[in-house]
Amino acid sequence: MSLKRHIPFLRWSFLRVVTGTRSLTTTGQIGDGREAAAVDYVLSHARAGDIDDVLARLDEFAYEQSLLINIGDEKGVLLDAAVQRVNPALALELGTYCGYGALRIARAAPSARIYSVELAEANADNARQIWAHAGVADRITCVVGTIGDGGRTLDALTARHGFAAGALDFLFLDHDKDAYLPDLHSILDRGWLHPGSVVVADNVKLPGAPRYREYMRAQQGTRWDTVEHKTHVEYQSLLPDLVLESTFLG
Ligand SMILES: C[S@@+](CC[C@H](N)C(=O)[O-])C[C@H]1O[C@@H](n2cnc3c(N)ncnc32)[C@H](O)[C@@H]1O
Repeated sequence: MSLKRHIPFLRWSFLRVVTGTRSLTTTGQIGDGREAAAVDYVLSHARAGDIDDVLARLDEFAYEQSLLINIGDEKGVLLDAAVQRVNPALALELGTYCGYGALRIARAAPSARIYSVELAEANADNARQIWAHAGVADRITCVVGTIGDGGRTLDALTARHGFAAGALDFLFLDHDKDAYLPDLHSILDRGWLHPGSVVVADNVKLPGAPRYREYMRAQQGTRWDTVEHKTHVEYQSLLPDLVLESTFLG
């Protein structure tokens, strides 16, 4: 592994992510056009209809061109394993970005319907192009909005997309880290989860979701059964991260 792959601070595109944090929270993008460049890269380099190749080209772009804030290849293996364990019919991701995470879910659960909620229209457009190129646009739907938007997105998922009591098998939290816990509570309030539903949460150590982690620790063995996976922040091997995999006990 090259030193640049190991040590993120040697990569300008990583440092640009750190300075682009403000842009990220308002626009959902780093602010230097890398997400649109990633779409161009996939459309021109990846074999159409080949999910593996589309994911590999996104990883390649993130390592060699500009860092992307996808769950990435290392943590993606944890996501794949959790999805395969559940084999969901219905899965929901919060935080679409370029569509990488949803694509991994689609690959791991070939018969699942997948919904991904994203606050930024530009990211939804990018992700839809990538999913279409991978040949899974009929199975993954991006809903522009947030779970915290006063019920608009929750109502849309209910009325238009078949979200109902006990229907949601798998939930992937990978959006605003401060929203993990309130959004999980909103979903619990709707009754969509059932005993055996699994919630995977990325970036619990970095940038960090401490209240979410405390909640899962406090509920261990009562409402939730959580495994904490020690791993690394995407696309490098220096900075530690945690992925939480929590099974709902009801
Ligand atoms: C880390 S990226 C998601 C990466 C994606 N899950 C993947 O693995 O490919 C975070 C995304 O969440 C979006 N986001 C931030 N706050 C959000 C919110 N409250 N609801 C939905 N999306 C949000 C951002 O615009 C950004 O696209």
